[in-house]
Amino acid sequence: MKVLIIGSGAREHAMAWAVARSSKVSTVFVASGNGGTATMGGKVRNTPVKATDIDALLELVAKESIGLTVVGPEQPLEAGIVNRFREAGLKVVGPTAEAAQLETSKVFAKEFMKRHGIPTAGYEVFRDYASAKAFLETCPTFPQVIKASGLCAGKGVVVAMSRDEALEAIHEFFESRIFGDAADEVVIEAFLSGQEASVFALTDGQNYQLFLSAQDHKRIGEGDTGKNTGGMGAYAPAPLVTPEVMRRVEEEVIRPTLAGMKADGYAYTGFLYVGLMIDKGVPSVVEYNARLGDPETQVVLPMLKSDLFDALLASADGGLEVVPFEMQEGAAATVVMASAGYPDAYETGKAVTIDPSVNDMEGVLVFHAGTRRDGDALVTSGGRVLSVTACAGSLKEALDRAYRAVDAIEFEGAYCRRDIGAKAL
Ligand code: AMP
Ligand code: GLY
Repeated sequence: MKVLIIGSGAREHAMAWAVARSSKVSTVFVASGNGGTATMGGKVRNTPVKATDIDALLELVAKESIGLTVVGPEQPLEAGIVNRFREAGLKVVGPTAEAAQLETSKVFAKEFMKRHGIPTAGYEVFRDYASAKAFLETCPTFPQVIKASGLCAGKGVVVAMSRDEALEAIHEFFESRIFGDAADEVVIEAFLSGQEASVFALTDGQNYQLFLSAQDHKRIGEGDTGKNTGGMGAYAPAPLVTPEVMRRVEEEVIRPTLAGMKADGYAYTGFLYVGLMIDKGVPSVVEYNARLGDPETQVVLPMLKSDLFDALLASADGGLEVVPFEMQEGAAATVVMASAGYPDAYETGKAVTIDPSVNDMEGVLVFHAGTRRDGDALVTSGGRVLSVTACAGSLKEALDRAYRAVDAIEFEGAYCRRDIGAKAL
Protein backbone atom coordinates (compact mmCIF):
# COMPACT_ATOMS: atom_id res chain seq x y z
CA MET A 1 0.00 0.00 0.00
CA LYS A 2 1.05 3.61 -0.56
CA VAL A 3 1.05 5.81 2.54
CA LEU A 4 0.99 9.59 2.89
CA ILE A 5 2.48 11.30 5.96
CA ILE A 6 1.41 14.91 6.43
CA GLY A 7 3.90 17.31 8.03
CA SER A 8 7.51 18.39 7.77
CA GLY A 9 9.19 17.99 11.14
CA ALA A 10 11.36 15.38 12.78
CA ARG A 11 8.13 13.73 14.00
CA GLU A 12 7.09 13.11 10.40
CA HIS A 13 10.60 11.95 9.43
CA ALA A 14 10.39 9.38 12.26
CA MET A 15 6.89 8.34 11.10
CA ALA A 16 8.11 7.92 7.52
CA TRP A 17 11.08 5.85 8.74
CA ALA A 18 8.85 3.60 10.86
CA VAL A 19 6.18 3.11 8.17
CA ALA A 20 8.76 2.43 5.44
CA ARG A 21 10.05 -0.54 7.48
CA SER A 22 6.81 -2.44 6.83
CA SER A 23 6.96 -4.99 4.01
CA LYS A 24 3.31 -4.11 3.26
CA VAL A 25 4.18 -0.53 2.32
CA SER A 26 5.38 0.21 -1.22
CA THR A 27 5.79 4.01 -1.17
CA VAL A 28 5.74 6.66 1.56
CA PHE A 29 4.92 10.20 0.42
CA VAL A 30 5.68 13.03 2.83
CA ALA A 31 3.86 16.35 2.39
CA SER A 32 5.86 18.42 2.35
CA GLY A 33 8.71 16.76 4.28
CA ASN A 34 12.22 18.13 4.82
CA GLY A 35 15.83 17.53 3.83
CA GLY A 36 15.85 14.26 5.77
CA THR A 37 12.79 12.73 4.13
CA ALA A 38 14.12 14.00 0.78
CA THR A 39 17.33 11.98 1.16
CA MET A 40 16.09 8.74 2.76
CA GLY A 41 15.79 7.07 -0.61
CA GLY A 42 14.13 3.68 -0.89
CA LYS A 43 10.38 3.99 -0.55
CA VAL A 44 10.27 7.54 0.83
CA ARG A 45 9.76 10.66 -1.26
CA ASN A 46 8.69 14.24 -0.61
CA THR A 47 5.82 15.91 -2.37
CA PRO A 48 5.59 19.72 -2.33
CA VAL A 49 2.01 19.94 -1.03
CA LYS A 50 1.38 22.01 2.10
CA ALA A 51 0.04 20.27 5.23
CA THR A 52 -2.90 22.70 5.36
CA ASP A 53 -3.90 22.51 1.68
CA ILE A 54 -6.59 19.86 2.10
CA ASP A 55 -7.88 20.12 -1.48
CA ALA A 56 -4.40 19.53 -2.89
CA LEU A 57 -3.84 16.62 -0.48
CA LEU A 58 -7.12 15.01 -1.59
CA GLU A 59 -6.01 15.41 -5.21
CA LEU A 60 -2.63 13.85 -4.48
CA VAL A 61 -4.22 10.85 -2.76
CA ALA A 62 -6.54 10.28 -5.72
CA LYS A 63 -3.80 10.71 -8.32
CA GLU A 64 -1.31 8.39 -6.59
CA SER A 65 -3.90 5.88 -5.28
CA ILE A 66 -2.65 6.34 -1.74
CA GLY A 67 -4.32 3.85 0.62
CA LEU A 68 -3.66 5.45 4.02
CA THR A 69 -2.94 9.01 5.19
CA VAL A 70 -1.38 9.84 8.57
CA VAL A 71 -1.70 13.39 9.92
CA GLY A 72 1.29 14.66 11.93
CA PRO A 73 0.54 18.25 13.09
CA GLU A 74 -2.52 19.81 14.71
CA GLN A 75 -3.38 22.59 12.21
CA PRO A 76 -4.83 20.30 9.50
CA LEU A 77 -6.75 18.40 12.21
CA GLU A 78 -8.34 21.63 13.42
CA ALA A 79 -9.14 22.48 9.77
CA GLY A 80 -11.11 19.22 9.47
CA ILE A 81 -8.79 17.14 7.30
CA VAL A 82 -10.04 13.89 8.83
CA ASN A 83 -13.67 14.88 8.22
CA ARG A 84 -12.90 15.73 4.59
CA PHE A 85 -10.95 12.51 3.95
CA ARG A 86 -13.67 10.35 5.52
CA GLU A 87 -16.38 12.09 3.50
CA ALA A 88 -14.33 11.17 0.41
CA GLY A 89 -14.24 7.54 1.58
CA LEU A 90 -10.50 7.64 2.32
CA LYS A 91 -8.61 5.99 5.16
CA VAL A 92 -6.95 8.47 7.49
CA VAL A 93 -5.26 8.36 10.90
CA GLY A 94 -6.27 11.24 13.17
CA PRO A 95 -9.29 12.68 15.01
CA THR A 96 -12.07 14.69 13.37
CA ALA A 97 -12.11 18.45 13.95
CA GLU A 98 -14.76 17.90 16.65
CA ALA A 99 -12.69 15.26 18.47
CA ALA A 100 -9.47 17.28 18.04
CA GLN A 101 -11.05 19.95 20.27
CA LEU A 102 -9.37 18.06 23.11
CA GLU A 103 -6.31 19.96 21.89
CA THR A 104 -7.69 22.88 19.90
CA SER A 105 -9.97 24.20 22.67
CA LYS A 106 -8.72 24.13 26.24
CA VAL A 107 -12.22 25.15 27.37
CA PHE A 108 -13.64 22.08 25.62
CA ALA A 109 -10.96 19.86 27.19
CA LYS A 110 -11.48 21.18 30.73
CA GLU A 111 -15.28 20.93 30.52
CA PHE A 112 -14.94 17.43 29.08
CA MET A 113 -12.66 16.30 31.92
CA LYS A 114 -14.94 17.81 34.55
CA ARG A 115 -18.01 16.12 33.03
CA HIS A 116 -16.30 12.73 32.94
CA GLY A 117 -14.46 12.86 36.26
CA ILE A 118 -10.98 12.81 34.71
CA PRO A 119 -8.34 14.15 37.15
CA THR A 120 -7.13 17.66 36.23
CA ALA A 121 -6.54 21.04 37.91
CA GLY A 122 -9.61 23.03 39.05
CA TYR A 123 -10.36 25.97 36.75
CA GLU A 124 -12.56 28.89 35.72
CA VAL A 125 -13.30 30.10 32.19
CA PHE A 126 -13.26 33.82 31.28
CA ARG A 127 -14.44 35.56 28.13
CA ASP A 128 -13.50 39.14 28.94
CA TYR A 129 -10.74 41.08 30.66
CA ALA A 130 -12.86 42.65 33.42
CA SER A 131 -14.16 39.38 34.85
CA ALA A 132 -10.74 37.67 34.67
CA LYS A 133 -9.23 40.70 36.43
CA ALA A 134 -11.90 40.63 39.14
CA PHE A 135 -11.19 36.92 39.72
CA LEU A 136 -7.42 37.44 39.97
CA GLU A 137 -7.78 40.40 42.31
CA THR A 138 -9.51 38.28 44.92
CA CYS A 139 -7.63 35.06 44.18
CA PRO A 140 -6.01 34.00 47.48
CA THR A 141 -3.06 31.96 46.21
CA PHE A 142 -0.44 32.05 43.50
CA PRO A 143 0.91 30.56 41.23
CA GLN A 144 -2.13 30.42 38.95
CA VAL A 145 -1.90 29.09 35.40
CA ILE A 146 -3.36 31.26 32.63
CA LYS A 147 -4.14 29.54 29.32
CA ALA A 148 -5.41 30.85 26.01
CA SER A 149 -8.05 28.36 24.89
CA GLY A 150 -7.10 28.06 21.22
CA LEU A 151 -3.99 26.88 19.37
CA CYS A 152 -0.98 29.12 20.08
CA ALA A 153 1.93 26.95 18.88
CA GLY A 154 2.70 25.93 22.47
CA LYS A 155 3.07 29.54 23.65
CA GLY A 156 -0.37 30.23 25.10
CA VAL A 157 0.32 29.17 28.71
CA VAL A 158 1.66 31.41 31.48
CA VAL A 159 2.48 29.98 34.89
CA ALA A 160 1.99 33.23 36.83
CA MET A 161 3.97 33.21 40.07
CA SER A 162 2.33 36.41 41.35
CA ARG A 163 -0.87 38.44 40.98
CA ASP A 164 1.02 41.06 38.92
CA GLU A 165 2.27 38.45 36.48
CA ALA A 166 -1.22 36.99 36.15
CA LEU A 167 -2.76 40.41 35.52
CA GLU A 168 -0.12 41.14 32.88
CA ALA A 169 -0.91 37.83 31.15
CA ILE A 170 -4.66 38.46 30.94
CA HIS A 171 -3.95 41.96 29.71
CA GLU A 172 -1.76 40.57 26.90
CA PHE A 173 -4.37 37.91 26.05
CA PHE A 174 -7.56 40.03 26.16
CA GLU A 175 -6.37 43.61 25.58
CA SER A 176 -3.16 43.41 23.51
CA ARG A 177 -4.61 40.30 21.81
CA ILE A 178 -1.17 38.76 21.23
CA PHE A 179 -2.82 35.48 20.24
CA GLY A 180 -5.79 37.04 18.41
CA ASP A 181 -8.97 34.93 18.50
CA ALA A 182 -7.13 32.03 20.14
CA ALA A 183 -7.40 33.95 23.43
CA ASP A 184 -11.08 34.97 23.15
CA GLU A 185 -11.60 32.41 25.90
CA VAL A 186 -9.09 32.03 28.71
CA VAL A 187 -8.79 29.28 31.31
CA ILE A 188 -7.35 30.13 34.69
CA GLU A 189 -6.44 26.97 36.55
CA ALA A 190 -4.85 25.86 39.78
CA PHE A 191 -1.12 25.16 39.79
CA LEU A 192 -0.23 21.50 40.01
CA SER A 193 3.04 20.46 41.58
CA GLY A 194 4.89 17.30 40.67
CA GLN A 195 6.82 16.09 37.66
CA GLU A 196 5.67 15.98 34.05
CA ALA A 197 5.56 13.00 31.73
CA SER A 198 3.53 12.08 28.67
CA VAL A 199 1.65 9.00 27.60
CA PHE A 200 0.69 8.32 23.97
CA ALA A 201 -2.10 6.11 22.73
CA LEU A 202 -3.20 5.09 19.28
CA THR A 203 -6.93 4.41 19.07
CA ASP A 204 -9.60 3.29 16.60
CA GLY A 205 -12.33 4.98 18.66
CA GLN A 206 -13.01 1.92 20.78
CA ASN A 207 -9.73 0.08 21.40
CA TYR A 208 -6.29 1.51 22.03
CA GLN A 209 -2.63 0.58 22.19
CA LEU A 210 -0.06 2.41 24.30
CA PHE A 211 3.41 3.53 23.30
CA LEU A 212 6.13 3.96 25.94
CA SER A 213 5.82 6.94 28.25
CA ALA A 214 8.24 9.78 27.54
CA GLN A 215 9.60 13.03 28.93
CA ASP A 216 10.23 16.15 26.91
CA HIS A 217 12.61 19.04 27.79
CA LYS A 218 10.71 22.20 26.90
CA ARG A 219 13.13 24.92 28.01
CA ILE A 220 16.02 26.11 25.86
CA GLY A 221 18.58 26.11 28.69
CA GLU A 222 20.25 23.39 30.72
CA GLY A 223 18.65 22.73 34.09
CA ASP A 224 15.24 23.63 32.55
CA THR A 225 15.98 27.35 32.37
CA GLY A 226 15.19 30.06 29.83
CA LYS A 227 12.47 30.27 27.23
CA ASN A 228 10.00 27.60 26.22
CA THR A 229 10.69 25.82 22.94
CA GLY A 230 8.97 23.16 20.87
CA GLY A 231 11.09 20.63 22.82
CA MET A 232 14.89 20.23 23.03
CA GLY A 233 15.11 16.51 23.69
CA ALA A 234 13.26 13.52 25.06
CA TYR A 235 13.67 10.03 26.37
CA ALA A 236 11.52 6.95 26.75
CA PRO A 237 10.43 5.24 28.89
CA ALA A 238 9.98 7.83 31.68
CA PRO A 239 10.96 6.10 34.96
CA LEU A 240 8.42 8.35 36.69
CA VAL A 241 5.65 6.42 34.93
CA THR A 242 5.97 3.21 36.89
CA PRO A 243 3.72 0.27 35.95
CA GLU A 244 1.40 1.35 38.78
CA VAL A 245 1.22 4.95 37.48
CA MET A 246 0.58 3.64 33.94
CA ARG A 247 -2.22 1.44 35.29
CA ARG A 248 -3.82 4.49 36.94
CA VAL A 249 -3.40 6.58 33.76
CA GLU A 250 -5.16 3.89 31.74
CA GLU A 251 -7.96 3.47 34.25
CA GLU A 252 -8.46 7.11 35.26
CA VAL A 253 -7.57 8.92 32.02
CA ILE A 254 -7.26 6.93 28.80
CA ARG A 255 -10.35 4.72 29.14
CA PRO A 256 -12.69 7.43 30.46
CA THR A 257 -11.42 9.82 27.77
CA LEU A 258 -12.20 7.42 24.92
CA ALA A 259 -15.50 6.32 26.48
CA GLY A 260 -16.46 9.94 27.23
CA MET A 261 -15.69 11.16 23.72
CA LYS A 262 -17.73 8.32 22.27
CA ALA A 263 -20.65 8.97 24.62
CA ASP A 264 -20.56 12.69 23.77
CA GLY A 265 -20.80 11.86 20.06
CA TYR A 266 -17.20 12.60 19.07
CA ALA A 267 -15.58 9.15 18.92
CA TYR A 268 -11.84 9.85 19.17
CA THR A 269 -9.55 8.19 16.62
CA GLY A 270 -5.85 8.51 15.85
CA PHE A 271 -3.07 9.50 18.24
CA LEU A 272 -3.92 10.80 21.69
CA TYR A 273 -1.18 12.59 23.63
CA VAL A 274 -1.82 12.93 27.36
CA GLY A 275 0.44 15.42 29.15
CA LEU A 276 0.47 14.55 32.84
CA MET A 277 1.59 16.01 36.14
CA ILE A 278 2.51 13.18 38.49
CA ASP A 279 2.65 13.96 42.18
CA LYS A 280 3.62 11.14 44.55
CA GLY A 281 2.37 8.60 42.04
CA VAL A 282 -0.96 10.39 41.42
CA PRO A 283 -1.52 11.51 37.79
CA SER A 284 -3.49 14.60 36.66
CA VAL A 285 -3.99 15.76 33.10
CA VAL A 286 -2.16 18.99 32.20
CA GLU A 287 -3.17 18.90 28.56
CA TYR A 288 -4.33 16.70 25.73
CA ASN A 289 -2.88 16.87 22.24
CA ALA A 290 -4.61 15.34 19.24
CA ARG A 291 -1.34 14.08 17.72
CA LEU A 292 2.01 12.65 18.69
CA GLY A 293 4.56 14.93 20.37
CA ASP A 294 7.71 16.29 18.79
CA PRO A 295 10.42 15.34 19.94
CA GLU A 296 8.69 12.48 21.83
CA THR A 297 7.81 10.67 18.59
CA GLN A 298 11.51 10.40 17.82
CA VAL A 299 11.94 8.20 20.91
CA VAL A 300 8.65 6.30 21.10
CA LEU A 301 8.54 5.11 17.48
CA PRO A 302 12.07 3.63 17.41
CA MET A 303 11.16 1.65 20.56
CA LEU A 304 8.20 -0.01 18.81
CA LYS A 305 9.19 -3.51 17.75
CA SER A 306 5.96 -4.35 15.88
CA ASP A 307 4.84 -3.06 12.50
CA LEU A 308 3.56 0.51 12.91
CA PHE A 309 1.74 0.37 9.58
CA ASP A 310 -0.51 -2.51 10.76
CA ALA A 311 -1.49 -0.48 13.80
CA LEU A 312 -2.12 2.68 11.78
CA LEU A 313 -4.32 0.83 9.35
CA ALA A 314 -6.29 -0.62 12.27
CA SER A 315 -6.67 2.86 13.75
CA ALA A 316 -8.49 3.82 10.54
CA ASP A 317 -10.36 0.51 10.04
CA GLY A 318 -11.00 -0.72 13.60
CA GLY A 319 -9.71 -3.88 15.23
CA LEU A 320 -6.71 -2.31 16.95
CA GLU A 321 -7.11 -4.66 19.92
CA VAL A 322 -5.84 -7.65 17.91
CA VAL A 323 -2.87 -5.89 16.28
CA PRO A 324 0.56 -6.76 17.78
CA PHE A 325 2.00 -3.75 19.59
CA GLU A 326 5.27 -4.65 21.28
CA MET A 327 8.06 -2.46 22.59
CA GLN A 328 11.77 -3.14 22.60
CA GLU A 329 13.65 -3.61 25.87
CA GLY A 330 15.92 -0.76 26.91
CA ALA A 331 15.52 2.95 26.27
CA ALA A 332 15.74 5.66 23.64
CA ALA A 333 16.93 9.26 23.85
CA THR A 334 16.84 12.12 21.37
CA VAL A 335 18.87 15.34 21.44
CA VAL A 336 17.62 18.29 19.40
CA MET A 337 20.28 20.35 17.58
CA ALA A 338 18.95 23.88 17.06
CA SER A 339 20.02 27.02 15.22
CA ALA A 340 21.79 29.74 17.23
CA GLY A 341 19.18 32.13 18.62
CA TYR A 342 16.24 29.68 18.68
CA PRO A 343 13.50 30.04 20.01
CA ASP A 344 13.96 33.71 19.06
CA ALA A 345 15.18 34.85 15.64
CA TYR A 346 17.81 32.68 13.94
CA GLU A 347 19.57 32.47 10.60
CA THR A 348 19.01 29.69 8.08
CA GLY A 349 20.91 28.37 5.07
CA LYS A 350 23.89 27.05 7.09
CA ALA A 351 25.55 23.97 5.58
CA VAL A 352 24.97 20.82 7.66
CA THR A 353 27.75 18.19 7.71
CA ILE A 354 26.97 14.75 9.07
CA ASP A 355 30.16 12.69 9.40
CA PRO A 356 29.75 9.36 7.54
CA SER A 357 30.67 7.51 10.77
CA VAL A 358 27.20 8.42 12.10
CA ASN A 359 25.60 5.95 9.66
CA ASP A 360 27.52 3.11 11.27
CA MET A 361 26.84 4.07 14.88
CA GLU A 362 24.85 1.32 16.54
CA GLY A 363 21.28 2.27 17.43
CA VAL A 364 21.60 5.83 16.08
CA LEU A 365 18.95 7.51 13.89
CA VAL A 366 19.19 11.11 12.73
CA PHE A 367 15.74 12.62 12.17
CA HIS A 368 15.61 15.97 10.39
CA ALA A 369 13.35 18.88 11.31
CA GLY A 370 14.54 22.20 9.86
CA THR A 371 16.69 21.09 6.94
CA ARG A 372 16.31 21.26 3.20
CA ARG A 373 18.23 20.05 0.18
CA ASP A 374 20.07 22.77 -1.70
CA GLY A 375 21.44 21.04 -4.80
CA ASP A 376 23.69 18.35 -3.37
CA ALA A 377 24.09 20.14 -0.07
CA LEU A 378 22.01 19.92 3.08
CA VAL A 379 21.30 23.27 4.73
CA THR A 380 19.41 24.50 7.79
CA SER A 381 15.90 25.87 7.25
CA GLY A 382 14.39 26.08 10.74
CA GLY A 383 14.94 26.60 14.45
CA ARG A 384 15.02 22.98 15.45
CA VAL A 385 17.31 21.44 12.81
CA LEU A 386 17.93 17.79 13.75
CA SER A 387 16.68 15.33 16.34
CA VAL A 388 19.50 12.87 17.00
CA THR A 389 18.11 9.66 18.44
CA ALA A 390 19.73 6.56 19.86
CA CYS A 391 18.32 3.33 21.27
CA ALA A 392 20.27 1.09 23.63
CA GLY A 393 19.92 -1.38 26.49
CA SER A 394 19.89 1.45 29.04
CA LEU A 395 19.07 5.16 29.06
CA LYS A 396 22.69 5.96 29.97
CA GLU A 397 23.99 4.11 26.90
CA ALA A 398 21.28 5.63 24.67
CA LEU A 399 22.33 9.12 25.79
CA ASP A 400 26.05 8.36 25.29
CA ARG A 401 25.31 7.14 21.78
CA ALA A 402 23.11 10.12 20.91
CA TYR A 403 25.73 12.63 22.11
CA ARG A 404 28.50 10.76 20.25
CA ALA A 405 26.46 11.23 17.07
CA VAL A 406 25.74 14.90 17.91
CA ASP A 407 29.49 15.47 18.22
CA ALA A 408 29.96 14.14 14.67
CA ILE A 409 27.46 16.62 13.18
CA GLU A 410 28.25 20.25 12.42
CA PHE A 411 26.58 23.41 11.28
CA GLU A 412 27.41 27.00 12.14
CA GLY A 413 25.88 28.02 15.46
CA ALA A 414 24.58 24.54 16.32
CA TYR A 415 23.19 24.46 19.86
CA CYS A 416 21.99 21.55 21.96
CA ARG A 417 21.31 20.97 25.63
CA ARG A 418 23.93 18.70 27.18
CA ASP A 419 21.68 17.54 30.01
CA ILE A 420 18.95 15.62 28.17
CA GLY A 421 17.84 12.70 30.31
CA ALA A 422 20.12 13.72 33.21
CA LYS A 423 17.16 13.87 35.61
CA ALA A 424 16.26 10.26 34.92
CA LEU A 425 19.75 8.80 35.49
P1 AMP B 1 0.21 23.14 28.20
O1 AMP B 1 0.39 23.87 26.88
O2 AMP B 1 -1.17 23.11 28.72
O3 AMP B 1 0.91 21.81 28.21
O4 AMP B 1 1.12 23.94 29.24
C1 AMP B 1 2.48 24.17 29.00
C2 AMP B 1 3.28 23.90 30.24
O5 AMP B 1 2.81 24.72 31.32
C3 AMP B 1 3.13 22.48 30.77
O6 AMP B 1 3.98 21.59 30.12
C4 AMP B 1 3.47 22.68 32.23
O7 AMP B 1 4.87 22.72 32.42
C5 AMP B 1 2.89 24.02 32.55
N1 AMP B 1 1.54 23.87 33.12
C6 AMP B 1 0.38 23.87 32.45
N2 AMP B 1 -0.67 23.73 33.29
C7 AMP B 1 -0.15 23.61 34.53
C8 AMP B 1 -0.70 23.45 35.83
N3 AMP B 1 -2.02 23.41 36.04
N4 AMP B 1 0.16 23.38 36.87
C9 AMP B 1 1.49 23.48 36.70
N5 AMP B 1 2.08 23.65 35.50
C10 AMP B 1 1.28 23.72 34.43
N1 GLY C 1 6.78 18.18 22.66
C1 GLY C 1 5.57 18.79 22.97
C2 GLY C 1 4.57 18.76 21.89
O1 GLY C 1 4.74 18.14 20.86
O2 GLY C 1 3.53 19.38 22.09
